[in-house]
Amino acid sequence: MTINDSVKKILVSEEEIETIVCSLADKLNFRYKDKEVVLILVLKGSVIFCADLMRKLTFPVILETMKVSSYGSGTVSTGELSIDLDIKTDISGKHVLIIEDIIDSGNTLYKLKKMLGARNPESIAICTFLDKPERREADITADYTGTVIPDEFVVGYGLDYDEKFRELPYVGVLGEWVYEK
Ligand code: IMP
Ligand code: MG
Repeated sequence: MTINDSVKKILVSEEEIETIVCSLADKLNFRYKDKEVVLILVLKGSVIFCADLMRKLTFPVILETMKVSSYGSGTVSTGELSIDLDIKTDISGKHVLIIEDIIDSGNTLYKLKKMLGARNPESIAICTFLDKPERREADITADYTGTVIPDEFVVGYGLDYDEKFRELPYVGVLGEWVYEK
């Protein structure tokens, strides 16, 4: 595998991603056995993770997408949440699973979970591929976490910097020369 010029280090390799996704799917398949679950894919960062994960699920799912943003084009969260695209499905009485790429400050998910929780789902849980607990500001933890990473800005496997690098098949640390120029 060739490393992209903008990436200084690979944090989670393709092989590790496969192992992590399988292990998350095992836990979810146990928890939601025979239940129907509304998966809420948070655009755009979770697209690749959700596509990989949902193909390993053995319970029925309804896929919904939401677009929320708390980030501008930089690398630091503004803390503001804007709902750019909402779901159309009525989630009251349903099992809801929010699929996230990464929890950083936690501000986005904290507000999103509160907003969806107010619509009276039967249950609501969060599944995140990555977690950066060192940067947490909001009081939130994921119910299912793929892997914990240090406080570094990462790209790839759906995660972007200024809309770029989502296509990388691994998770890498972005070189500071990319955003400091
Ligand atoms: P939070 O509200 O600070 O938890 O951040 C939420 C969103 O910021 C995530 O869903 C990502 O889209 C983005 N984000 C946070 N950290 C990173 C990173 O290291 N690389 C790319 N995007 C990130
Ligand atoms: Mg995101």
